[in-house]
Order: sequence, then C-alpha cells, then structure tokens
Amino acid sequence: MCGIVGYVGSQEAEPILLEGLRRLEYRGYDSAGLAVVHRGRLQVHRVAGRVQELREEVGAVSPAVVGIAHTRWATHGPPTVANAHPHVDTARRIAVVHNGILENAVQLRSRLQREGVALASDTDTEVIAHLVAEQLESGTATLEAAVRAVLQEVQGTYGLVVLDVQRPGELVVARLGSPVVLGVSEGEMFVASDVAALVHHTQQVVHLGDGELATVRAGSYRTSPIAPVAGGAGEVEASALSAQDYDLGDHPDFMHKEISEQPAAARRVLGGRLDDRFATAHLGGIRLEPRELRGIRRVTFLGCGSAYYAGQMGASLVEELARIPADAEPASEFRYRNPVVDPDTLYVAVSQSGETLDTLMAVQELQRKGGRVVGVVNAVGSAIARQCGQGIFLHAGPEVSVASTKALTNMTISFALLALLLGRVRDLSAADGRRLVSALLDLPDRIEEVLRSEPEVQAVAKQFAGARHMFFLGRVRGWPVAREGAQKLKEISYIHAEAYQASELKHGPLALIDSSMPSVVILPDDELYAKNLSTVEQIRARGGPVIVVTNADVPGDLADAVLRVPRSEPELDPVLLTIPLQLLAYHVALELGRDIDKPRNLAKSVTVE
Ligand code: F6R
Repeated sequence: MCGIVGYVGSQEAEPILLEGLRRLEYRGYDSAGLAVVHRGRLQVHRVAGRVQELREEVGAVSPAVVGIAHTRWATHGPPTVANAHPHVDTARRIAVVHNGILENAVQLRSRLQREGVALASDTDTEVIAHLVAEQLESGTATLEAAVRAVLQEVQGTYGLVVLDVQRPGELVVARLGSPVVLGVSEGEMFVASDVAALVHHTQQVVHLGDGELATVRAGSYRTSPIAPVAGGAGEVEASALSAQDYDLGDHPDFMHKEISEQPAAARRVLGGRLDDRFATAHLGGIRLEPRELRGIRRVTFLGCGSAYYAGQMGASLVEELARIPADAEPASEFRYRNPVVDPDTLYVAVSQSGETLDTLMAVQELQRKGGRVVGVVNAVGSAIARQCGQGIFLHAGPEVSVASTKALTNMTISFALLALLLGRVRDLSAADGRRLVSALLDLPDRIEEVLRSEPEVQAVAKQFAGARHMFFLGRVRGWPVAREGAQKLKEISYIHAEAYQASELKHGPLALIDSSMPSVVILPDDELYAKNLSTVEQIRARGGPVIVVTNADVPGDLADAVLRVPRSEPELDPVLLTIPLQLLAYHVALELGRDIDKPRNLAKSVTVE
C-alpha cells in the first residue's frame, strides 16, 4: 500500500526511481511522483495516474544522482496531482515520500496553518515536509536530527524517505509500521518499500527494523532507533529473491504467472516438512514441545480477506485431523471486540505480505494479553513474521498481482501440515497420518492436473462473463472455497458475487434466483454430496444457471457447466476446488478487459486500517 523508492549514488537517479516504482505499482496506483536534486534545486514531477504517465511527464532524463519517488494508494484526499507525493515545504527545500497514515495530521495541519504556512495538498504527509524544514531553519544541525524530532511529534504509521536539497548526498529514512528495505551496493544505496524494487540492482538488503531510522549515503548507511525504546535489526543479509522472481516470463500478467506457479510453490511449502515414517509433519519454525502441542485446546486463525478464508479452511483441517475446536476470525475485527485471550489457544496470524496492519495489530493485542501466536506468512523479514517470532513460512515466492492465488494455496497446505502435526500428538492414527502425508506429497501433481483444464474454464468464463451478479455456494469444507471464489471474482472482474452456505439458500437468497443469476456450486464427492446435489436441482428448477465445480463423477448435463478437478483425500479437497475458481475469475476479468493485476481501488498490502 503505497510504494516508496529512493536512490543515492552516481548513476542517473530518474530511470532507477521510475523502474523501482513500476515494480512497486502493485502497492498502489492512484498517482505517482518523484523528486530529484538537479543543479542545486529540487525538481518534482507528479501525475494523477500511473507510473507510465509519470515516465512521460519526466521526459528527458536529468543527470541528477539522488532522488525519491512514490506510487500512491489514496488515503487522505483524492488522487490528484496536488495530493501526489513527493510533498515539499514552502521553500522547496525538503521533499518527502511516505507510506502509512499520520493519525494527528489534522492537528498538525491546523497548527501549521495558524503559523501561516499555506498547505498545498489535503494529505497528512505534507506536514512532515514543513515540520522538517521548520526544524532545520530553527538550527537543528543535521537532517537526521530534524527528522527524528519531527517523528516524536507525529502519531501513526510510516515508511518514509526525506530529501534535503542542501544535503544532496544523503537521504533520511524511517520506519514505523510500514516496511522499508535498504539495498546496499558499491558506491550507491537504494531504498524501497519492498525488495521487488531492489533486486535488479543488488541482493544485499537491510530490513529496517520497526522504529528505526537510517541515514543513507552513496555506499554507506547508519541505522539508529527513532526513539530510545525502539528495536530493529539493521544488518545486511542476502535476499533469497532474484530479479527473475519479479519478471513476467511468457505470461501476460502476474496473476496468470502466479496461478501457474502453484505446483512449484506447493512443492516448496511441503519440502522437507513431511515425515512418512512417523506419518507427521515437521515444522521447524514452530518451537513448541509435543507436551505444549498437546496442551493446545483451541486454534484460532486470524487474517484478512483471502487470508481469512484460508484460515477458515485451516480451522476445518484442524478440527477434522486434530479434533481440536478451531475457528477463524477477520483480524480486522479482532482487537476491537476486546477479545478474551486464552492461554491454551494457539493463535495463527495468516498473511501473504506480512504487512497487513489489521493482522499486525491483532498480533500485538494478543501478545499484550499473553496470547501464544504463530505467524503463517509468505514475506520473510516482514513485520508480522518478525512480530510473531515463530511460525511457518509459505515459500510461495513473491506475489505481485493484487489478487492472491499461490500464497492462498500454500496457506491451506501449511494448515494441513499444522493439523497433521497437532493430530499426530493426539488421536490421529498413524494410518490416517500416512494417508494425509501421501495425499500431500501427491498434491502438486494434482494441482498441475487442474491447471491443464484452463481451456475448459476459459470457455465457461466466456459463457458467463455477461452476468451482473453471481452466487457461490458451498457447505462445510466447500464454504470457504465458495467465499474465496466470490472474492476473486468480485475483486478482479467487478461482478457482484456473493457466497452463501448452500444450506442457507432456502432461508432467503433463493428468492434472487432466476435466469440472470448464475450460481457456482462447490460439489465435492464427500458426505454432503447428495445435499449439494439437491441444491443444484433446486436452483435449476427455478431457472437459475449453474456451474458445478466438482471432483465427483457427475454427468456433463448435471449443470450448465461442469468444472472438474481430480480427487485427493477429502480433507484436502478445498485446495484443488479453489483453483478453477481462480481461473474462472481470471478469464472473466480478461473477457471484460479488466486491469487484472491492479484492480481499481485496491492495493496489494494494506498497511492502513
Ligand atoms: C484477495 C487478497 C486480499 C488479501 C488481504 C490480506 O485476493 O489478496 O484479500 O488476502 O488483503 O493480505 P495479506 O495476506 O497480505 O495479509
């Protein structure tokens, strides 16, 4: 959510900043801008549009060798040029890019206005530029000291970079609640909100710790706490990600690439974690003794959006395999209901980005109340991974498309591993454990099989792309699958999609069924098969078109369209049944000419409340 880039070195800064922004555009794409120092003056370019428009606005590249840049997901004020970052002070000495939200912006804006400062935007960020300039004018000796002083005054979250035209050899960077990574290279330094913008230049990265500040100069950097209590790492490490991880290859967009990568991603999340001999899972990142694992009396999954639906799949797996009560809850609601935190519950914080503020806050609330929380996270070094300190990494590889696909699949697979581990220290028999181990080992191949059915899904997508509304229906294991299917469709195609438990249909929503309301029915070949079948019949009897997603041997004329997936063990059905729904949403969106990787109004990691 908002991408920031900074550069200080000896190369031309503008192409590096623009390319960095392009790679971060998934974080927000309402407006974009950059500032460089050229001939002792600040040159600022901003557009109320995408990075490509900024590239055109910049035009011929200047020889400037220092600069900062930003791609915005609007929070304060509409996406106009005036609200685009970088923001500058009145004298155009200081430029700032910021990701996050300042909670006391209104008070700070009024104070500046009372002092006679004319504010040029509606944003919270602009106050930082004015306040830093004020500090320097009042005699604060260094940019670092000025930024530090201002950060004592502001409340809220930030990843920010500050540039002073009078000190063109340095940038000051700070982080609280929003990610900042430094890229270290010979004679130059890079700053970004995500390694995606850095790995084309260097794999030596420093994850700035939460509450840390850094002064970055060409080829050197120094970190320190913003305030004396803050912590952080500040050490150089080698990024496991490479430039290819962020390239499209032969795919038309990242969502397609990421859907196709699922077999390989599934192999990675399983790699070295299955124990055929003892029919269990090894999860080295969860540091709980068997005795402690046995003492867990409930498992609660916390996540937002698709991560929450994955958590629901996790809750079913834990209940089925470990026979421990389990549930899932939106992390965004958790801390506001003053939750009773139970020491015998294992809380599982689920997040692809590891940055989602609502999930991070839920983790902090849990930890304040003595709760035991593990993270299930894709982004290594992210805030949630660090905050939890233990958990399971998803190893899905970077996800760039806003709509989550491979990370969600790996979440569900990792929950199966967790459920297996918890089950095997309880009553899950070795035979059942072995059944699961073997099905998990087989899963990547089965995912490959589902992906081979893409042409059939594409044909169904063409058939139904004209729909204005759709239902997604499932029961028990199929219910979170239906929710995730509806989520994918609405977020990238903008078709209104609602998920219901199929059992609830006759209690109200059935009134909406007619020939213009297609329903996608999740029909696993399990103990609820007959009941789901009668849902199909009830809908068809009322003239409603039906798309069935199934692993059962059903006749082709059971519904208007039948999407088939291979069988696995019933507990793992949700993994395979979800994939045709990703493809369906994808091809409907393609048919409708949507911007698949960057759906309107959304951003990849939601670092605001
Ligand atoms: C949907 C989607 C979002 C995210 C949610 C949580 O396709 O991507 O619903 O799942 O914003 O994000 P993470 O997993 O990064 O915490």
